[in-house]
Amino acid sequence: MDKAKKLFIKTYGCQMNVYDSERMAETLGAQGYVATDTVDDADMVLINTCHIREKASEKLFSDLGRLRPAKAANPDLKIGVAGCVAQAEGAEIMRRMPLVDLVVGPQSYHRLPEMEAKIQTGERALDTEFPVEDKFEHLPARKALRGPTAFLTVQEGCDKFCAFCVVPYTRGAEVSRPPVRLLAEARDLVARGVREITLLGQNVNAYHAQDDSGVWGLARLLREMAAIEGLERLRYTTSHPNDMEDDLIAAHGDCPEVMPYLHLPVQSGSDRILKAMNRKHTAEDYLRLIDRIRAARPDILLTSDFIVGFPGETDEDFEATMALIERVNYGMAYSFKYSARPGTPAAEKPEVDSAVADARLQRLQALLSKQQKAAQEAMVGRDVTVLYEKKGRMPGQMVGKSDHLHAVHVTDPSGVPGELVRVRITASSSNSLAGERLEG
Ligand code: 5AD
Ligand code: SF4
Repeated sequence: MDKAKKLFIKTYGCQMNVYDSERMAETLGAQGYVATDTVDDADMVLINTCHIREKASEKLFSDLGRLRPAKAANPDLKIGVAGCVAQAEGAEIMRRMPLVDLVVGPQSYHRLPEMEAKIQTGERALDTEFPVEDKFEHLPARKALRGPTAFLTVQEGCDKFCAFCVVPYTRGAEVSRPPVRLLAEARDLVARGVREITLLGQNVNAYHAQDDSGVWGLARLLREMAAIEGLERLRYTTSHPNDMEDDLIAAHGDCPEVMPYLHLPVQSGSDRILKAMNRKHTAEDYLRLIDRIRAARPDILLTSDFIVGFPGETDEDFEATMALIERVNYGMAYSFKYSARPGTPAAEKPEVDSAVADARLQRLQALLSKQQKAAQEAMVGRDVTVLYEKKGRMPGQMVGKSDHLHAVHVTDPSGVPGELVRVRITASSSNSLAGERLEG
């Protein structure tokens, strides 16, 4: 029997990319590849790229440059590039980097087996097409499970065209998967021990479908999943404020399986900048929306993304963002210094002075860290529910997530992954909480 070939995948970016990497590993697993965690003994290295990263393509080219010695030592080593940078700059990657054997865009992962066969003959393979067919249904439906939580992609792509963002160009138009399939996959996950599912999509709350039973939005999908016996928790990410429909807000209030956590990026608190970003909502619209969400679920933990130094951002615009953060009081947030993505409308505009943007980003991050710390500390002394995911680093310790997605460490020598337990929070450290298991 042939020795199994080894696959090393390096993943950058969002949960969608982490999920895609897992599925690529499974697809190639069917071709005889097993995972390895070093480049040294790999037969194939796959870099799953993210265009949202700052200087994504430069970093990719330097990663690829660093693979030269490995390829020189082992001419049979195959090197592939996947993800959004592959999609956007595939031809350029092929031209500049002869050591690359394969370039595959996010819409084409189901073609990996034939592409792999092609590169084994010494040819190079490039596929960055947007196929019309339903790409989701070509990938292995059964993914390997890692503990009691799982991701399920329900929607991909985006039609919003925010002025700074490459997603509509690299991931294509919005596509939602059929609800019957999603429900079948969710049931299958639960039958295999999953107790928490996070529904994924670039614009997940734009989910929409229609079948004989009528129209589906994300709220209906969540409610029908919540009815699956054994499925205890549901989350979804990433949402757009303009798609936060009434029934979705209501689900946070009346569907106990929908967790009190919402990632709702606003990007800026200045109406002028929001308009220039093509966000199609004002700061006030967003704040009113937050009020409605909190009315439905008062203890909901809110998170966001921010871009600092968008072209044209003045001190006043930035102060408006700081004021919005003060008003909302986030449990956590991601923040980025604006960086131009070739091909997007904002890339044509003059940039804010880099040192000014850096200074703003620091102030914004300090405020967000303060809010995050306060949100964690507010949990101390409270009783929460924790889903154990795995054993912790200390002997007898379990690690899991609370309803609010805080990582919680619990000393519980008899704890097992998949258990949902009540825990009294006793301490908060920089990135996690500690607690004691309550009886029962
Ligand atoms: N520059 C900086 N940040 C960006 N993001 C997307 N595009 C850019 C860009 N050109 C951020 C947004 C988005 C998150 C995933 O990445 O905040 O919500
Ligand atoms: Fe990009 Fe999100 Fe805007 Fe779509 S909604 S264009 S994915 S930032």
